[in-house]
This record gives sequence, C-alpha cells and structure tokens, in this order.
Amino acid sequence: MPTLVIGAGLIGSQVARILVERDEKPVLMDPAAQIQAIGQIVDLAKVTLIGGDVLRPLSIIDGLRTHGIDKIVHTAANPMLTLGAQKDPYAAINLNIMGTVNVLEAARVTGVRRVVVSSSSVLNHYLEGGADDGDFGKEEAFPRPTTFYAATKQSVESLGLNYARWCGIEFAGLRYGAAFGPWSGSGGGGPSNIVREAMRNALAGQEATVPPGPMEWVYSKDAARGTVMALDAQDLGNRVFNITMGSVTTPSEMATGIAEVVPGAKVKFDAPPGTAVALSNRDTGADLSRAGRYLGYTPAFKLHAALQDLAHWMQRHPV
Ligand SMILES: NC(=O)c1ccc[n+]([C@@H]2O[C@H](COP(=O)([O-])OP(=O)(O)OC[C@H]3O[C@@H](n4cnc5c(N)ncnc54)[C@H](O)[C@@H]3O)[C@@H](O)[C@H]2O)c1
Repeated sequence: MPTLVIGAGLIGSQVARILVERDEKPVLMDPAAQIQAIGQIVDLAKVTLIGGDVLRPLSIIDGLRTHGIDKIVHTAANPMLTLGAQKDPYAAINLNIMGTVNVLEAARVTGVRRVVVSSSSVLNHYLEGGADDGDFGKEEAFPRPTTFYAATKQSVESLGLNYARWCGIEFAGLRYGAAFGPWSGSGGGGPSNIVREAMRNALAGQEATVPPGPMEWVYSKDAARGTVMALDAQDLGNRVFNITMGSVTTPSEMATGIAEVVPGAKVKFDAPPGTAVALSNRDTGADLSRAGRYLGYTPAFKLHAALQDLAHWMQRHPV
C-alpha cells in the first residue's frame, strides 16, 4: 500500500525520496507542486503526483480511496510559517488547523491506520507564562504559545492526540527544528530561507547573513528520516517527538560552520525588519530521548555535515 505524502516541499520531497529509495511508490499531494524543484530531490517517474488540497476534504478522501492509502504524512503548512502566520493569521489558522482536521477526519472515515503530522520545535520555545507552575486549578498553569504559528501547531498536536485516543488512529506529531536543506523552490520558513541564501552567497563569494540568535536546527534529510521512522515504528505510542539536531547553534557556530565548508566566506549576523519573531529564545536543545526510544531517531547530520551536504548539493544545482 502506498503512503500519501501531503505537501511536496522542503521536507515532504525528502520523505518521498526516502520512500522511493526503498522501492516504494509514494503518492504526493500538493495543489501547487513545484515540479522542477521536486524533480531535483526525487525521481518523478517513481512517485504519483496528485493535486488534492487539505482545505478540500473530498479531494483528500478521493486520493485516499483511489490509491488505497494506509498511512499519511502531512507536511502542508502556511507559506513562510511563523513569519507568514504573523502577517495573515486567519489563513494560517485555517490551513494549519482545519487542514489537519480535514486530514484526520478523512483518515477516520476511510480507515487509514497511521497519520504522521508535522509539528514544530517552536513549541519548545515560543512559549511564555506557566506562572501558576503546573497547578491544574489555576488559569496560567501551563505556558502558552506566543506566535500564531506556534498556537496552530499546539492545536494540531492536541487534536491529533485526541483522534488517536478516541478514533483509534495511530498519530505522531513531529516537532522538527528549524529546517534547512536542498531545495530550489519557494517554501520553508524564514530560517530555512536564510540558511539557503547564506550558503548561496558564500558560494558566490558574497557576504552571507545568518540569524543573530541561537537556533535549534534540523537538516531536512534528518527531518524526513525521522518522519519515515514514525511511519515504520512498531509501537508509536500515539505521541509527539522532537526531531532536531539535538543542540542549539549559536550565530558564531553557524558562521564558523559556513566558513569551514566555504573557506574564506564572510558572514554577518542580521535579522531583517520584522523577522525577529522567528528567532528562538532558548539556548538549550530539545531532548531527543523519546524519539530515540520509540523511533530509533538520532540525527545523522550535525551542523558541519549538514552544511557540507547542502554546499555540495547547491554546487550541483545552482539557482
Ligand atoms: N521548514 C522549517 O523550518 C520547519 C520547521 C518546523 C516545522 N516545519 C513544518 O514542517 C512541515 C513542512 O515544512 P516545509 O519546510 O517542507 O514547508 P514547505 O513550504 O517547503 O512545503 C509545504 C508544502 O505544502 C503545500 N501546501 C500548501 N497548502 C496546501 C494545501 N492546502 N493542501 C496541500 N498542500 C499544501 C505547499 O504547496 C508546499 O509545497 C510544515 O508543517 C511546517 O510547519 C517546518
């Protein structure tokens, strides 16, 4: 039975590549598929591209029934993630929350066994409050998200866990770190695009810019590996998992990393106006032990390996 991968962007295309490399033929659903960019990641002859839309529930059901789908990876999200949701909250809330509910409902009525949904490590840092220190009877017992995007991801996790609890769907929500990696199309979040732009400039001998704050990254190939592990895991435990590099990278570590891969690269730190909201306020990394125990996930790409792989890919695919 093929897996349905919804959203064929930075991470979804890598999930499809891994499935193809083990001789599966995944179905990729994306209403705005960037064919050329996807084709640089995965052999288009070995996937089935369809044009459904998570905001059109019947198109999801049609895709599930037509292709006899048993497992879904849902990676669709609003354009530019945190930054995009700050500019157009309603559209992001609709796409991220109702889009995911539509996927979970379609899974419920068609009997799909497992749904793996992209959450985000923003839920490990864009939070504040919890002033009542976990006291259930008090109104501020637990921290609350401080951006619209993080609020949608928190909702998605809670809804997915309830579909698992009450409807028998095996659910995993994956908290990816800020993701970067090979991709020539548009998409990803602010940080994904900053790293790609920085590497492009460094390779072209121009000054590169990296975020001025600490970030917890994940290489897109690792985000996809963790996702496929969640598709495969025997006992998923209906859970949320951190899928990151497992450590926080400071701006100088990122600058040094780029200069190691592109000797002589000049790197400055900057957050263009309005983008500071996408910077982390944490300097400790996520705990990967649950992802290790249940999924077998540990990052294959730490910073240096990730930047090196990205540089090699960008030299082969200049954009
Ligand atoms: N990129 C990151 O830094 C990052 C970090 C943490 C979590 N995430 C999450 O991981 C997931 C994948 O992120 P990405 O970087 O690959 O994003 P992306 O923007 O590269 O890809 C998302 C894809 O979803 C598609 N899409 C948009 N609306 C759709 C709809 N209505 N129906 C079906 N498909 C639709 C887009 O066309 C796009 O190809 C998202 O849920 C995102 O929130 C990303």
